Amino acid sequence: MFAIEERWVQGLPPELIKKILEKTKELLEHYLNRKEIQGYTKLLHDKGAQYLECTVLSVFYSLLICEKLDWWTRPTLEKVCLGCILQDIDALNLQNLPPLAEEDEVDPSSPELSAWQKHPLAAADKASSFNFCNESVRQIIIQHHENFDGSGFPRHIAGLKIYPLARIVRLATYLSKAIIFENYSLKTSVQQLLKNTQKINSFDPQLIKQIISALTGKSVEEKEGA
Ligand SMILES: [Fe+2]
Repeated sequence: MFAIEERWVQGLPPELIKKILEKTKELLEHYLNRKEIQGYTKLLHDKGAQYLECTVLSVFYSLLICEKLDWWTRPTLEKVCLGCILQDIDALNLQNLPPLAEEDEVDPSSPELSAWQKHPLAAADKASSFNFCNESVRQIIIQHHENFDGSGFPRHIAGLKIYPLARIVRLATYLSKAIIFENYSLKTSVQQLLKNTQKINSFDPQLIKQIISALTGKSVEEKEGA
C-alpha cells in the first residue's frame, strides 16, 4: 500500500521524501486500520488500487505542503491525513462519474449529479460519528471542493475564507489524481496545472508556490525575487 513510485516524488530532495514518507506511513497505518472505517478502506481497495494510491499520495503531498509551511505539529498532520482519507467517504459508491470528479467533469444531466453535489456535507455527517473526527476534520471534508476563486461547492466560499487545511487537501488531492489517473509525474502534474489558466484559480497560489519550491529547492521568497 505504501510503495511510492519514482515519478510521484521525482525532483524532491531525498531527505524530504524520507521524512514525509515515514510520517505518511505512520499516520495511514494508524487510521486505515481503525475499525470504524475498515468498511470504507475495503471499498477503496475494491474500487481499484488507483483509489487507494490516490489517498496515500494525497496524504503525502498534504504533509509535504505542511512541511514547507512549517506546520509540522502532530494534530495538524492528523487532521490533514483524516481529511484526505474521509473526504469522499460518501462519493465512492457513485458509479458513473469520473474518478474523483472535479466540478467541470460532471455531466449536468447525470442522475448522480445531486448525490455528488451533496457528497462533502454527507461525508462530513458520516465522519461525525467517528470519535477521532473533530470539527477541524469535518471542515476539511465539508470544504474539500471549495475553490480559491469561489467557483467550488457546496458553499461557494473563496480565498482565505476557506479553511487552510481544506485548501491544502484540495491541492494535494488534485495533483494526486492527475499523477495516478493520468500517469503524470509530480513535475508534469504541476506543469499541466500551471498551463491551465482557468483551473489554476481553483487553488491557493501560496500553496502552489510551496510545491514548486519543494521541486526547485528554492525558497518561495527566492523564487519570487528571481
Ligand atoms: Fe470529493
